[in-house]
Amino acid sequence: MRPPTPDAYFDEWWGRSDDPWAHATRWSEARKYRLTAAALPRPRYDRSFEPGCGIGVLTTLLAARSPDHLAMERHPRGVAATRERCAGLPGVTVVEGRIPDDWPAGSFDLVVLSEVLYYLSSPELDAVLDRAVEALVPGGDLVAVHHRPSVDEHTWTGDEVHERLRAHPGLTSLSRLVEEGFVLDVLQR
Ligand SMILES: C[S@@+](CC[C@H](N)C(=O)[O-])C[C@H]1O[C@@H](n2cnc3c(N)ncnc32)[C@H](O)[C@@H]1O
Repeated sequence: MRPPTPDAYFDEWWGRSDDPWAHATRWSEARKYRLTAAALPRPRYDRSFEPGCGIGVLTTLLAARSPDHLAMERHPRGVAATRERCAGLPGVTVVEGRIPDDWPAGSFDLVVLSEVLYYLSSPELDAVLDRAVEALVPGGDLVAVHHRPSVDEHTWTGDEVHERLRAHPGLTSLSRLVEEGFVLDVLQR
């Protein structure tokens, strides 16, 4: 059983700045967000869920595709930053919470898992993948994107979590992009 990334890791990173991973300023992040949005199979969704939204940069792109977008973040500083960034965007709800325990009720036709799965313990990862599949309507899309190089504090590499995702019996793979720095998978229920 692999343990989760400890809470202290998030407290330390979020204690450093309002944008601890430089999501708003690095071109590699901006490019990855645009590729992620471009990979969404449909122009519009009805209801979407994005756990681990960070400071909400990807949230702004997803909100443009969904009239009812739910962003969740475990750290209050991220919740505040995402609320501020999305203040003028109708249909965006930002809540404080942690997957899998605070997985929201109801169904979605899009779930986006961006740079969040590799922090989870083995049972948490199993629970999140099962909940994501259960929460998707038939034909709904799951888009996942994760950093590939190994990071000491991460429980998994991006490749490991995407292998688990692609092996899930409730999902069919639609497309994938593998670069040196990240892997992007689009799957459908
Ligand atoms: C590397 S950042 C990625 C943020 C955003 N998804 C992106 O791609 O820019 C990871 C974020 O996930 C949050 N996080 C980590 N574990 C989480 C969990 N179990 N539930 C909700 N948020 C989580 C962290 O606080 C952090 O803001």
